[in-house]
Amino acid sequence: MLKSYNNWCPEIYRSVFIDRHNSDQVKIAPCCQASYSIEPAETFDFATNDYLQGLRKKIAQGEKPKECNLCWKMEELGHKSRRKSAIEFFNTTEPDYEVKLESIDNSATWACNLSCVICSPVNSSTWATELKLDKQQLKNIGRRFQKDNNIFENFDFTSVKKIHFNGGEPLLNDHQVELLHRLDEQDLLKNIFISYNTNGTIYPSDKIIDLWRRSKLFKLYFSIEAVGSAFEYIRYPGNWAQTVDNLLTLKQKLPSNIMFGFNVAVGAHNLLEMDDVWNWFNDNLKTNREGDASDFCWQFVDNFDIKHLSREAKYFAIDCLNSIEPFRGLVKYIQSALDDTKNDKWVKDLNLIDRRRGTSWRTSLKIGKYY
Ligand SMILES: C[S@@+](CC[C@H](N)C(=O)[O-])C[C@H]1O[C@@H](n2cnc3c(N)ncnc32)[C@H](O)[C@@H]1O
Ligand code: SF4
Repeated sequence: MLKSYNNWCPEIYRSVFIDRHNSDQVKIAPCCQASYSIEPAETFDFATNDYLQGLRKKIAQGEKPKECNLCWKMEELGHKSRRKSAIEFFNTTEPDYEVKLESIDNSATWACNLSCVICSPVNSSTWATELKLDKQQLKNIGRRFQKDNNIFENFDFTSVKKIHFNGGEPLLNDHQVELLHRLDEQDLLKNIFISYNTNGTIYPSDKIIDLWRRSKLFKLYFSIEAVGSAFEYIRYPGNWAQTVDNLLTLKQKLPSNIMFGFNVAVGAHNLLEMDDVWNWFNDNLKTNREGDASDFCWQFVDNFDIKHLSREAKYFAIDCLNSIEPFRGLVKYIQSALDDTKNDKWVKDLNLIDRRRGTSWRTSLKIGKYY
């Protein structure tokens, strides 16, 4: 039985989420789901940083910091939070307040080949191009890079057990290849669990696959939030057939230490696609080639909150998802939000996207029949 240790979280003491912010700064948080602080890149120190130390102090005093609200929300729904997964990963037997860098979550790049409807110019260069952001606007969102800030130059990786790459699309970026190469040369890679969030549309190079093979364990999390035309609408301008081909080829060809997962972002726009996603996962990627079970995780898309749907759509979703075990927390959330007022802000957002792209969410997404 997994212990919850009240509010204690190993990530606060052992992990850092780190993302470049313009040329000289970094965004810092204990994990990618917590609120972040922007710090000077050159002087950042994991052990002494004021923001991280402040969070550590709050946790030690028994508080539930608001910076970690996503975890508290997931736990209220009875769903496994990131915090609980971290307790499991670190194999913790009791709360431990020692500060020691063991896990890094890095947004390896901002470059992305897609502009998914739920995403934004903060995480996707293609979104920034679509919105024609100028230099000042890019600077305002932390995406004006005039020189490289190599955030890992001064990091000590000796005690690191886990590195997760996010993005942008991490498979479009060479920095993570260089980092893995460096860790391999230092004979550290063999001790580290490496994972990626990827959109599944880019097939990795032989060079990177060879580095993955040399890690302790490796996991690819695919962000698949719909299938067929709904996938192509949400993950614009991705191609579903090509993505399926990539996923199935990876399952067949990757070395046996490589495992898989689905990371599914759920919102009002794709709630009705969830049974298709689950069925595809079950039929095709429930395990890797060796039979090791894949993960199936989901998270909320706050800017497309499910609570804004009509009651009719919510009842339909409950019917479709009720019998799917990993969606138990999701069904509980829909049930708790049955009386929330319908709000069409997300509809306006998709209409705006459609006008720019010449797409049609009403015909591509199942939720369209309710509008
Ligand atoms: C920003 S992406 C970067 C990695 C990679 N490009 C991908 O799509 O997997 C990381 C994860 O964030 C999710 N995501 C993007 N926008 C989101 C939002 N507004 N709310 C919740 N999750 C979001 C994506 O679906 C993906 O699983
Ligand atoms: S692929 Fe990932 S980073 Fe790129 S737009 Fe989609 S969610 Fe954002």
